[in-house]
Amino acid sequence: MQRTFHFCLLLAGLLLAATGSLSAQSTTLAATPPMGWNSWNHFAGQVTDADVRAAADAMVSSGMRDAGYVYVNIDDTWEGQRDAKGFIHSNSKFPDMKALGDYIHSRGLKFGIYSSPGPQTCARYEGSYGHEDQDAATYASWGVDYLKYDLCSYGNIMKDESHGDPKIANALMQQAYEKMHRAILKTGRPIVLSMCQYGWDEVWKWGPKVGGNLWRTTDDIKDNYARMSQIGFGQAGLAKYAGPGHWNDPDMLEVGNGHMSRDEYRTHMSLWAILAAPLLAGNDLSQMTQETKDILMNKDVIAIDQDALGKQGDRLSAEGPQEIWTRPLANGAMAVGLFNRGDFPLTITFHFKDAGLPSTIHARDIWAGKDLGPLHDSYTAEVPQHGVVLLRVQP
Ligand code: GLA
Repeated sequence: MQRTFHFCLLLAGLLLAATGSLSAQSTTLAATPPMGWNSWNHFAGQVTDADVRAAADAMVSSGMRDAGYVYVNIDDTWEGQRDAKGFIHSNSKFPDMKALGDYIHSRGLKFGIYSSPGPQTCARYEGSYGHEDQDAATYASWGVDYLKYDLCSYGNIMKDESHGDPKIANALMQQAYEKMHRAILKTGRPIVLSMCQYGWDEVWKWGPKVGGNLWRTTDDIKDNYARMSQIGFGQAGLAKYAGPGHWNDPDMLEVGNGHMSRDEYRTHMSLWAILAAPLLAGNDLSQMTQETKDILMNKDVIAIDQDALGKQGDRLSAEGPQEIWTRPLANGAMAVGLFNRGDFPLTITFHFKDAGLPSTIHARDIWAGKDLGPLHDSYTAEVPQHGVVLLRVQP
């Protein structure tokens, strides 16, 4: 009897310790939205070890690392077979994952990887189903710092095992993410957990509880204005769920992939910064134009994204094609985006009192790179089609 009691106490203690380290980990990991690069948007299933090394090199030589981009994340299609003991190995495109991790770390960068809670990933490579502890331990031994965990074929398991009951299916989904989170904790290595399940079941309400540091809020982005803007402007209302260690993720950047105009990519970058979104470049970093570099590495935009207050911005108003979004920043500052979603240039007026600002403010037009001096009551700007005027305001 007494032994059982002691055993229960021990168990409770262990549980407390585990939850304690859980919250300690989630406040230090991803204290600001993660910044880096991911292979998928440009290389998709073709990505190789050489491409990832070239991305790491370019991240350093272009100045991106010094601007804050640190994660080098391999997405789907690195996976090979499991050996007789069940350990996962990489495929022939990635001859030595530990060596690749070492290379990335030697450049002062961090190493990210990808898997699925299902038996197969979305590109039908080996997933982690039934091997969660083993895979987490393998990733830790390779020096992995970031795991994107993509639902993919686990959707079939949810369907089969819930017999069509959505409540059970959603509970299974939560358990699958929590399982990998626990497996990561057991390795003792701080690994950012990026949940990718396309925003199902209002993930923003339970993502932090199962150990997610970020969670995709939507289905996949595409390199065109229609899809990017649908996702970006569709984030209205989610601000209250984000904060240090746990972020909404409207998907990776398409800046520099070639199918949007300069103004559209500026809209993409500005909106993601206001949304406190992870900034994971998705282009070929070894082939960047000056225009792409100027957008990805604009210091004032990055400062908004990474702001120490850690509060996501939201939509202030929408009138036809014009939308005004604001984000509160540290020290009473504010980011203000005047967006034109229409197909013609527009004149947009921002009234300071609408955002709770005093009648006199100082502002910087970030993309124009100029200080506007003291402004009174309102500011009117010409905004190009699909474009933005992004201001940093100080009362
Ligand atoms: C899903 C994800 C994408 C990418 C692919 C890889 O579609 O949402 O971001 O990881 O899988 O197969």
